[in-house]
Amino acid sequence: MSLPLSSQNVIQYLQAVGMCSLEDGKLEVLNLPVNRKNYNLVVDVVGNHKLLVKQEHGTENEGIIHELFNEWLFHQLLQKFPVLGNISAIAPLVVHFDEENSILVRNYFSEYLDLGQYYKNSNIFPTDIAAAIGTTLAALHRTTFQGKEYRDFMATAPQGQFRYHFYNPAQGIGSLDPAIFGNIPTGALKFHVLYQRYESLEAAIADLAYEWNACCLTHNDLKLNNILIHSRWNQLDNCLVQLIDWEACTWGDPAFDVGTILASYLEIWLESLIVDPTLELAESLQLAMTPLEEIQPSLVALLQGYLQAFPMILTYHPNFLVRVIKFTGLALIHQIQDKINKYKLFTDSHLYMLEVAKNFLTMPEQSVLSIFGISEEEILSPIAKIQQIPQPEKEKQLVRLYYENTRLRGC
Ligand SMILES: Nc1ncnc2c1ncn2[C@@H]1O[C@H](COP(=O)(O)OP(=O)(O)O)[C@@H](O)[C@H]1O
Ligand SMILES: [Mg+2]
Repeated sequence: MSLPLSSQNVIQYLQAVGMCSLEDGKLEVLNLPVNRKNYNLVVDVVGNHKLLVKQEHGTENEGIIHELFNEWLFHQLLQKFPVLGNISAIAPLVVHFDEENSILVRNYFSEYLDLGQYYKNSNIFPTDIAAAIGTTLAALHRTTFQGKEYRDFMATAPQGQFRYHFYNPAQGIGSLDPAIFGNIPTGALKFHVLYQRYESLEAAIADLAYEWNACCLTHNDLKLNNILIHSRWNQLDNCLVQLIDWEACTWGDPAFDVGTILASYLEIWLESLIVDPTLELAESLQLAMTPLEEIQPSLVALLQGYLQAFPMILTYHPNFLVRVIKFTGLALIHQIQDKINKYKLFTDSHLYMLEVAKNFLTMPEQSVLSIFGISEEEILSPIAKIQQIPQPEKEKQLVRLYYENTRLRGC
């Protein structure tokens, strides 16, 4: 990277690449919070039009990993195949990419809100929003499902590099090496120790990696902060939702995206638990600022919205729901790992999160009722009415996600 961007030189840069002119006068620049690997600026160019300028500056250990290229490639795919117009409608337009300096510019929507922030501020979970996310995601997967031409296009590598196969995101946590010790909070060592102690968990993740089945375009980083919701969503019929941050997008497994977004919802509940050695877990659950019951209708609406818009996935994968639950568990583990590595943050509620994730991965059938509050049959019944789908075979034995008399300390 030869040009590190800043709020001082970004306008000059945009002028140099012809995205705004000297006549535009004084333009406003806003710094977005700095994150681990990108530097983001919003520039207010003329006519109330805003641009988001992103520069990848790399991570401490990995350096620049050229993820902006993926977002650019995704944008190129949409340009090359106009038939994918319904996907263009759910992703902001990328207007410029500078591979040499790892800079990407996309349209910024002032009238949209970050969904993670929306939920945080309002603490309400209207099911219409979740259903819109399910339908939007289904459109992405359904439109590209088994499209060889899209698959081949997404195999393009950055200049001077090779891409032998698509990245399989079904990965567990690497073993704890001594270099990590000084870099993570001491409490987080408990997480690594427990994770390594659970052999069934590692085996379940290895199975999931083996079962991973790339068959459509996937977003691969579908958390609430990467979803935008229109500020007047309740007065509009469509365009409620935009998916942003396509840096991890690739040819992948649709169950991974669905599991990732469900985990992001569950995180709201899990992060709101007050877990303390002096409290019984049942008390912690009662004290949750956002009880699971408040999130569950959104989880059901999202999944049903998805399946109603893409029922074919149940023919292709009759055990789709079970796979989604396993990926939800995996995404929870990745969330804990992110908190530890990026934010050096670890609390006892993350140990509980690990327990929940383990149940999802090792006992997915039994976890359905605990996550959604209704059975697999009930979830699938509106979809079964639209299309003949394989029904779950047997009555499942159900287990609780939590055990009232256990304490987290020492688990
Ligand atoms: N097109 C957009 N319109 C409105 N807000 C956006 C847009 N793109 C990004 N944002 C805001 O900026 C944040 C960071 O953008 P994102 O592309 O997710 O970058 P990062 O890779 O740093 O996570 C988002 O979480 C969202 O709040
Ligand atoms: Mg993001």
